[in-house]
Amino acid sequence: MRHDLIRILEIQLYSMQTNRRNWIKQLGLATAGLGAGKLTALAEPTGFLREIQGAGLPIKLSSNENPYGPSPLARRAMAERINVSNRYDWDIATRLIETLAVKNNVRKDNILVAAGSTEVLDLILRYAASQQGNFVLAYPTYSYWSDPVVRMGLERKVVPLTKDKKMDLPAMLKAINGETKFVYVCNPNNPTGTVCDKDELLRFVNEASKQTLVIVDEAYIDYTTQPSLVSESVQNKNLVVVKTFSKIYGLAGARIGYMIAHSRTMEKIASLQSWNNGSVAVVSAAAAMASLSDTKFVSDTYHQNEKVKQYTMDQLKQLNIECIPSSTNFLYFSLDKYKYDFFKRLKDNQISGTYIYEDEGSWTRITIGTLTEMKQFIAAIR
Ligand SMILES: Cc1ncc(COP(=O)(O)O)c(C=O)c1O
Repeated sequence: MRHDLIRILEIQLYSMQTNRRNWIKQLGLATAGLGAGKLTALAEPTGFLREIQGAGLPIKLSSNENPYGPSPLARRAMAERINVSNRYDWDIATRLIETLAVKNNVRKDNILVAAGSTEVLDLILRYAASQQGNFVLAYPTYSYWSDPVVRMGLERKVVPLTKDKKMDLPAMLKAINGETKFVYVCNPNNPTGTVCDKDELLRFVNEASKQTLVIVDEAYIDYTTQPSLVSESVQNKNLVVVKTFSKIYGLAGARIGYMIAHSRTMEKIASLQSWNNGSVAVVSAAAAMASLSDTKFVSDTYHQNEKVKQYTMDQLKQLNIECIPSSTNFLYFSLDKYKYDFFKRLKDNQISGTYIYEDEGSWTRITIGTLTEMKQFIAAIR
């Protein structure tokens, strides 16, 4: 099986070398200059992917990826970098940081880039959790990072969301005490898709940061119309903002994320790494820079996601499934009134979803894929 796969890849690589036009098509570069139809074409697996996966492609609606990405410009930038991946490129991270500094209107020493925001979070937590104590987070929220922190000996203080599935910022503030080493805010929140009110969040950050480090994870902020907290973070030594290229920029597999913080705070956090900004692959850094310049792709993705999300919400409503309004590329809904075995339906139709986050109400999450994928999802659960 493994040999068959390698053989397919070898054949494909050979034909890629001998047919550049075909190769360009397979990379999806021929669709530069987008629109909803062409954006959807970018989501289609081409060439050897189709050969490997066959006709019954699994539908991945589990990890909140951008189904249309990487952008055509990012694909081109990655392809161009493959041939120089044998070399360290000491400057490329610097160039990426310069680009990010301009985009976020901050200084270069306010930024650190890493292999995904997962690495960024790990690094911040190594810094924040170096002394024993506790940390505060909501439930449910994005929390894979929290298990290692508990293993490091810190107590996890969990604050339930409000009834409308929003972060309960006053309760989180109350949970902070003299032993709290940091508080984590995911805005918008994964898995619920809810966003904090900007003024309320600012008030929270002002108060909480007097007592502890505040980490604001903005993985999905580009799916909202809400401004980022980056300008506040460079003024406030106790506020760190975490960002990723994995979501609207469509580079989840390229593994690239970054943080923005006050230069003093950044200095302390960066001192825990042996090679700052060194874990970002040359190919990924090139992709990130190209995708920042592809504003058309980002805006097309945003609008297409809104359209397909609305379709999915309408369909779920018709199925009597209660859904939380979402400011992201995923939906959180209750299976309380759903009569069938939801997860079996997904499995039978080769669709990957998630799991039950909250037993009370049986709440689960689904990523917004392409319109075709969401039609298949609705057909599967109908
Ligand atoms: C809120 C949030 N933060 C961080 C991440 C990690 O993203 P990555 O490591 O791909 O940048 C995710 C991934 O789903 C997420 O949902």
